[in-house]
This record gives sequence, structure tokens and C-alpha cells, in this order.
Amino acid sequence: MPSVWEYRQSDDLYADAAEFAVRLLSVFPEASIGVATGDTQIGLYDRLAAVFGEGRVSFRKAAFYNLDEYVGLDKDDPNSYHAYMRRHFFDRVDAAPERCFMPDGSGPDPEASARRYAKTLAAPRDIQFLGIGANGHIGFNEPAGSLTLGAHVTALSARTRRAALRHFGKLDRVPRSAITMGVGDIFSSRSMVLLAVGEEKAEAVARSVSGSVTTRCPASFLQLHPNAAILVDGPAGRLVPEALKRRADGRVLGDLR
Ligand code: GLP
Repeated sequence: MPSVWEYRQSDDLYADAAEFAVRLLSVFPEASIGVATGDTQIGLYDRLAAVFGEGRVSFRKAAFYNLDEYVGLDKDDPNSYHAYMRRHFFDRVDAAPERCFMPDGSGPDPEASARRYAKTLAAPRDIQFLGIGANGHIGFNEPAGSLTLGAHVTALSARTRRAALRHFGKLDRVPRSAITMGVGDIFSSRSMVLLAVGEEKAEAVARSVSGSVTTRCPASFLQLHPNAAILVDGPAGRLVPEALKRRADGRVLGDLR
């Protein structure tokens, strides 16, 4: 079962999440790190950039693998995840560009691009950071009758496209599909850290940790991972049964091996 750690202050949540990566890199600078996008991850990247600024960590030898990318956006489009990652993380630290891997959704053949990314992902990550969609999706693995193990092109659900409206302004500008790591890629990581902030994630978080394991809530597969932590603020953790919750109080890192 994943540990659900609840934080009163989201600053503390992001500080602990960053510390997972910082400690791993201090003993293993070549670590392979799965990274996510979305508004929730911005606090993590701000914190990692701050720790880098203090000289406490270097990302130079690490490898980064992004969960997903929209199909049909140029890499320089501000709404592309390429642009997001550069803006919030890669350009603020000393990450080596040749070790920052992302699926390319901008070309004429997204299926071929997904196949290329699948090859890049052959070795598992050491740590995988995740957000969660309000419908329980991880990466862009949407609730469905079955899930795909490897990197693939996927259609975005109506709910996911509506959630992206705040960035794109108009629904017809929101991409209809994306390239995403598959659930096999995601769950093969040695450790997982899922961050969820805000009331709109409460139901998805509760279903992920206390409901049955189901493809209708892809994040529920976290229950089968031996080394997963879910870091939530009060509103996101509101519907998680008390018995499954722990108050963070600085104990998180000791718990995740
Ligand atoms: C997108 C990303 C997911 C992320 C989700 C949550 O759907 N593909 O990887 O978990 O957004 O985003 P936010 O943190 O903005 O709610």
C-alpha cells in the first residue's frame, strides 16, 4: 500500500518531494528520474531550482524522462510540455540537454514518435514523480477498459481537455491526443512520488488509495507498488480514510526506502 502523507503547508510538501530527488542524487548522481507536468509540479520545480541555487545538488549526470507531451503542438508553443519543462525546470538548473528525454508530439507521425520514445524508456526509472488527473489519470493514461503498458498515442478524455482549458483559453485549441508513457513504464520505476494538491483531486486520491485496483482509475495501481508515497495537502486528502493517512511531520523520507 502506498503511504499517504498529509501536509498542512504545501511548501513543506514540495520541500519533501524535492528532497527525494536531492538525496537520491547525492548518493547516485546518474539517477534516472521520471518527471511530470501540470500546475501541481511547479512547486516541486521551484524548490529543486532553489536547492540547486544553494549549491546542494547537481542534475548534470542525471537523466530525465518526461511522462507525456501533446500531439500537434510545436516544441516552442508555450503550452507544449517541452516549453513547460524548459521554463520550470531544465533551463533553471544544470540538467544536460542530451539527457532530458521527452516524447515529440510535433512531427507528422506521432505513432512513430511514440515507438521511438518506447525504446528510450527501456531501462526503468529510479524515481517517478507523478501528478494525478481529477479523473484518476496518470501521465495521460486515461480511465479505460484496459491500459497500455508502453509509450503510445492516446486520445484525451473530455474531462482532461476541459481541465486544460485554463491554459489554452478555448476548447478547440486543446489538443485531442497526446503521447504518454504507458502504465508499464510508469510502474516499473523503483520508487514513486505522487503529488496532489487541492479539493478537485480529493475524489481521485481517495479512489486511488482505498478503492479497488481498476483501469477505471489508473492511479489505483499505485496500491500494488512496493515503494510509493502520495503527498497531499488537506483538501486533496480530505476523502482518504483517516486510518490510511499519516501526518507528515518530517518523517516522510525515512518511510520511503
Ligand atoms: C496533465 C498531465 C498529468 C498531470 C495532470 C495534473 O494531465 N499530463 O501528468 O498529472 O495534468 O495536472 P495539474 O497538476 O495541473 O492538476
